[in-house]
Amino acid sequence: MSTILDKLSWRYATKKFDNSKKVSKEDLNTILEAARLTPSSYGLQPYHILAIEDNNIKAKLRKVSFDQPQITDASYIIVLANKPTFDGNMVDDYIDNIIETRGVSSKDVEGFSQMMKSSLLDLPDVQKNAWTTSQAYIILGNIMTIAAEMKIDTCPLEGFDKNQYNEILGLNDKNLNAAVVLAIGYRSADDATQNYPKVRYSREQIITHI
Ligand SMILES: Cc1cc2nc3c(=O)[nH]c(=O)nc-3n(C[C@H](O)[C@H](O)[C@H](O)COP(=O)(O)O)c2cc1C
Repeated sequence: MSTILDKLSWRYATKKFDNSKKVSKEDLNTILEAARLTPSSYGLQPYHILAIEDNNIKAKLRKVSFDQPQITDASYIIVLANKPTFDGNMVDDYIDNIIETRGVSSKDVEGFSQMMKSSLLDLPDVQKNAWTTSQAYIILGNIMTIAAEMKIDTCPLEGFDKNQYNEILGLNDKNLNAAVVLAIGYRSADDATQNYPKVRYSREQIITHI
């Protein structure tokens, strides 16, 4: 039986997907549910998750992704879109969700609400954007690992034009911004990259035990 470390060594940023093999809807849904269950700071989830299967949209996205073939050959393209800005309504929506989900009163969560608002709402937009982007990346890491556990291949991508993605996917009107992308599918047998040894710093170089 392979361990989680075997699976993390098996995974690699797939350069060539086999477009004749499609990830099942059931497996896609497992990955999307893992994305939804991903933790975020305060639990605010300041992002939206898009799963793209439509070939015409994929072709358009590839053109603005440095023509990277993963965009059209993978089964699905997951776009993790952060909220570039936000106001108190985002916190209020979350607070309403807590009240409904946990059956608590607004008084119970008033302090938590004020704490989030005072630490987040006065940030300049550039910092709000950076903070929500960093939350979206937590999903990226999580679902790459989940996919590897399921022996499904992925390629994370930052090599794309965000403005064009926002335009093609109609994100601007929704206060969303394409932060990072994950292509999901099955590797092509002739993708030589799968045999490349991993380039990582040694444990001594990168880990300090104190
Ligand atoms: C956030 C992020 C963005 C990346 N963008 C691209 C990309 O646009 N195209 C690509 O082919 N690989 C991309 N990569 C893959 C990295 O180059 C690769 O993960 C890294 O070299 C480590 O290799 P491994 O994933 O095969 O272990 C990206 C990786 C990450 C984590």
